[in-house]
Amino acid sequence: MSATDYQTQGRLAVIRLQNPPVNGLGHPLRKGIVDGLDTANADAGVDAIILIGASGTFSGGADIREFNTPAMFAEPSLATVIDAIEASPKPVIAAIDGACMGGGLELALGCHYRIAKADAQIALPEVKLGLLPGAGGTQRLPRVIGLEAALNLIVSGSIVPAKQFKGTDLFDAMAGDDLLADAAAFAETVIGKTATLIRDIKVQHPEAEGFLMVAKNTVAAMSGHFPAPVKCVEAVAASVGKFDKGIATERKLFGELVNTPESKALRHAFFGERAASKITDVPKDTPTRQIEKVAVIGAGTMGGGITMNFLNAGIPVRLLEMKQEALDRGIATIRKNYEGRVKKGKLTEEKLEQRMALIHPTLSYDDLGDTDLVIEAVFEDMDVKRQVFEKLDAVMKPGAILASNTSTLDLNKIASFTQRPEDVVGLHFFSPANVMRLLEVVRGDKTADDVLVTVMKLGKTIRKLCVVAGVCDGFIGNRMVNKYVAQALAMLQEGALPQQVDKAVESIGFAMGPFRMSDLAGNDVGWYIRKRHYEEYPDMPRMPIADKLCEMGRFGQKTGAGWYKYVPGNRKPQPDPEVEQMILDTCQELGIERRTLSDDEIRDRLVLSLVNEGARILEDGIAQRASDIDMVYLNGYGFPLHLGGPMLYADSMGLFNVERRMRQFAALPGADAKFWEPAELVKTLAADGKTFN
Ligand code: NAI
Repeated sequence: MSATDYQTQGRLAVIRLQNPPVNGLGHPLRKGIVDGLDTANADAGVDAIILIGASGTFSGGADIREFNTPAMFAEPSLATVIDAIEASPKPVIAAIDGACMGGGLELALGCHYRIAKADAQIALPEVKLGLLPGAGGTQRLPRVIGLEAALNLIVSGSIVPAKQFKGTDLFDAMAGDDLLADAAAFAETVIGKTATLIRDIKVQHPEAEGFLMVAKNTVAAMSGHFPAPVKCVEAVAASVGKFDKGIATERKLFGELVNTPESKALRHAFFGERAASKITDVPKDTPTRQIEKVAVIGAGTMGGGITMNFLNAGIPVRLLEMKQEALDRGIATIRKNYEGRVKKGKLTEEKLEQRMALIHPTLSYDDLGDTDLVIEAVFEDMDVKRQVFEKLDAVMKPGAILASNTSTLDLNKIASFTQRPEDVVGLHFFSPANVMRLLEVVRGDKTADDVLVTVMKLGKTIRKLCVVAGVCDGFIGNRMVNKYVAQALAMLQEGALPQQVDKAVESIGFAMGPFRMSDLAGNDVGWYIRKRHYEEYPDMPRMPIADKLCEMGRFGQKTGAGWYKYVPGNRKPQPDPEVEQMILDTCQELGIERRTLSDDEIRDRLVLSLVNEGARILEDGIAQRASDIDMVYLNGYGFPLHLGGPMLYADSMGLFNVERRMRQFAALPGADAKFWEPAELVKTLAADGKTFN
């Protein structure tokens, strides 16, 4: 199929854009439009030209399949296409429905006239990729909808319905149900007339200069580590002057943004999310199983949150507990959670009741037989998991999927408790499970392809970002975070204090440093695991400072004290001299001479501890690709979006420098040299001058 279809209809030429799914403006489509224009202008029987999407959508903008390929820069560029339209002696009318976004909107703005359906989706979302509209959007949009409205749209990247701009110069007419017929009727009215080009309209604003200055300051204060929103304001500001000069400014600013690390990180996140849904060794046409009813075992912290995901998507849930009280408590917590949303005006009472009605509480496994998927979220104990999975194996219908939310236990072992290990998969949700977007899909040795594909699809339905992980202790995220926490503790022992370590990473955008994170999650969790490990592996390095903290009963926020102290009712951490003294005393007991650590050292040691384990995870085949690791960290661990994830951080640093830095850390006084031995993958990539991503 050609990317455009050209037909004449009486005196009109109709150029249909047909590049599914959203008429992305790839090279063949751009060329097709110019060819169509040339044909129409050479045909004496044609008096006007209509540009319209072939299947209910105008254009979603750039063709993302062309990103980072030479085709993206091949002529005709979008700017060339727009120049050709503006120069067309015969009027060109954009007939708009569906998506009209990014380059798609810029294309429409280049036309002589625009007619749109009321519900067409209008947006310039480039800012979301750390960019700005680079084909005249920042110059033409203010000329038709005004400075303020254009600025809001461009800086936010939000999508609004076309009807919001009815009556502005953005649209010359609004269409009814039959877009092409209405566009054709409109075209007849403009034949032979000279259209005013948008470039020739003057931007109207009584106080442009003052408004733009305030806008720039406001946007700068809100955009944190990202430069694009401010550049968007600068580009829009240039629309107040001469058009050609404004276009030059837009182009210059666009060029500056494309090469910023922040834009690279945003684009990495955009493509990384899409890549994560692909499972390399599973055939594309693998059929999925039908999931209409779900069961959740355990109505505790995780079970309740997991249940809410399905209720939100309209999927009924059988919720099973051991005792009535636990069931009642779990359901009351879910209701309370929804009531909170009602209070904030984010949910109606009616919806709340509809969702609650989808819960079918039960104490009996016999009630689960007709469900298509069961997710177990009971205590983290292999014996308990065994009891649960043996029962599930007995009651679940053939073909049902049996999932575990375990965060540390061996999924293959759990699968072995059943006669159908091929139906068993891990669904590792993150807490709070109704909020956190990440879902690690754990693939057991025997997990069937169709089970995997089915849960990936279901994950999308409940609006999760699914990342496939292999079976190992901690899967992707927690396996790495264990190294990160170990490194944070090591630095306390060498000379740092919790508040310094936290600040060093929070200042570059981490949602929370390791000690605040630990206070929130509960310091006792790691302590119990450590005590078990000390017994199981007597040679294991000890963590005396962390152990002492727990011996002092400082389990974190829940006990009012941890690495920090907390005033009751306030989550703000306050550095505590008692903790500092304990750290100093412990170092003295151990005969350690403390030294000053720089924030740079702290940051690099924390991030590179993630990177080294991430590399091993790739070597072991636990993650499919480096970007999957980055998606886990961006969506589950508060890693700053503008840095793109630990593996992209390492790539930006250069793996040669990463390896060198690791060797420097290994040589520090008191360092654990084994910890800092660079992973084989780091070494080979560094030697070849390559990157993870
Ligand atoms: P929890 O203690 O809050 O809830 C467990 C619930 O399971 C309790 O309500 C208990 O009554 C119920 N239960 C125990 N045995 C049962 C059985 N045989 N049949 C039916 N119900 C039973 O624990 P939480 O935190 O919700 O953890 C559950 C699972 O989720 C664990 O495997 C844990 O490792 C995993 N997980 C926990 C995360 C967290 O942040 N809390 C994060 C990700 C996974």
